[in-house]
Amino acid sequence: MPEKKKKVNKSQWESAAWEGRFTEAADPDAAVFTTSFTFDRVLFPYDIEGSIIHTEGLARAGLLTDKEKKTLIKGLKEIAAEMEKERPADLAKQPVIDEDIHMHIERRLLEKVGEVGGKLHTGRSRNDQIATDLKLFLRAETGRTIELIATLQKSLVLRAETEIETFLPGYTHLQRAQPVSLAHHLLAYHEMLKRDKSRFEDSLKRLSELPLGAGALAGNSFGLDRKSNAKALGFSAPTANSLDTVCDRDAVTEYLAAASMLMMHLSRWSEDWILWASSEFQYLDLPDRLSTGSSMMPQKKNPDLLELIRGKTGRVYGSLISILTMMKGLPLSYNRDLQEDKEPLFDTVTTIQGALRIMKRLTDEVTFQKDHMTEAASDGLLLATDLADYLVTKGLPFRQAHKVVGQIVFQSIDKKDPFETWPLDVFQSFSPLFEKDLFERLSLKGALSKKSGIGGTSLKSIRAEIKKIKKQWREIKSKG
Ligand code: ARG
Repeated sequence: MPEKKKKVNKSQWESAAWEGRFTEAADPDAAVFTTSFTFDRVLFPYDIEGSIIHTEGLARAGLLTDKEKKTLIKGLKEIAAEMEKERPADLAKQPVIDEDIHMHIERRLLEKVGEVGGKLHTGRSRNDQIATDLKLFLRAETGRTIELIATLQKSLVLRAETEIETFLPGYTHLQRAQPVSLAHHLLAYHEMLKRDKSRFEDSLKRLSELPLGAGALAGNSFGLDRKSNAKALGFSAPTANSLDTVCDRDAVTEYLAAASMLMMHLSRWSEDWILWASSEFQYLDLPDRLSTGSSMMPQKKNPDLLELIRGKTGRVYGSLISILTMMKGLPLSYNRDLQEDKEPLFDTVTTIQGALRIMKRLTDEVTFQKDHMTEAASDGLLLATDLADYLVTKGLPFRQAHKVVGQIVFQSIDKKDPFETWPLDVFQSFSPLFEKDLFERLSLKGALSKKSGIGGTSLKSIRAEIKKIKKQWREIKSKG
């Protein structure tokens, strides 16, 4: 063997797995620039889970003796237990900069069990390994995210149930439009969350194929039983194409896309409640424990939590765009760019789960200022559409009815004389179709009760909707 001259370099990155090919150790700046261990450490439980199954697969393929298998698995389990206890601050004390979570665990295994540790990477590359870790991570976090959405939905329904007979103006263009029940408003968010939840659930279907065994890009040369490994790790099958497998980040992208949509909804909801908490609306009081004050203005109570949900939405969108942009120029198959998927993903998981938890607390704990809502909902102008609908029931085409009521509204505003206080003959001067039964219709309750179809704001429709949702909960509970 020709003697290689090694340049000694003061790298902290002492013994790289690829030192055979290299004449010098990596430059410390390069090591710091390339490492992902500072953020991919969170993958350690999944990396170890995958490694244990891989070890068993190697033994089944006759590549490890039973003793070697046991040694490796014991070592891996010990590392998992140690890492569980370590604090991120302990990382700073490390003598070397590991390139990533995979190299970190492999180094510790070698230190622990000696040379046999070097057998673990047989038939495996970090490329199929990281793809596996990510899928395991995503499966767990998607499940957690789904649960948090369901919990928030539950809070919304329970809160809605107590607010069926609380009324407020519904808005379009942020102008008072028609009266609605507060329960109806709350259940609108429930529907958004229902769609979000189904997007996350749907993404789980595509998290069903195991990457392990795809090797660096071309598959493994050891005839490893990928089907058994898939089963052992809870996947339904191995992936079908090794080239695609090692550079597929669709699942990461899907999580971020679903998260972006979820945050868009939470942000709109936050915006509603920020307005409601303002002195201009006064529809909602935030508990002190879920608000912040001003360091300068003693009177302030600020809706910072809601503002942060709105603000963090931008950051989640940014993560989605960063993954899409990182992916768009990658030739097959693995490229190191792919390591840039981690921080946006991890950050998004923490952000959306935090936002869901805070939104649940707020849903359970805010106080609705019902008197202000009712006062605003009692504005007669909100009944103008009902007045037009009334004329339609008397046979007038809607366009003409709209015009007649437009004139009524104009006079009412012009003369500062609310039409809901007018006697019948004044109405009749606008149209002979007005009759005594008009006054039943010209009330908040009368207007609401007419919106009695599916999806409308009548108390009957809302009660039916809540009943339907609760029935679904019972069905899910009895199935699960
Ligand atoms: N840390 C890398 C990542 O997150 C996995 C390692 C693959 N590295 C390599 N040079 N092939 O994608």
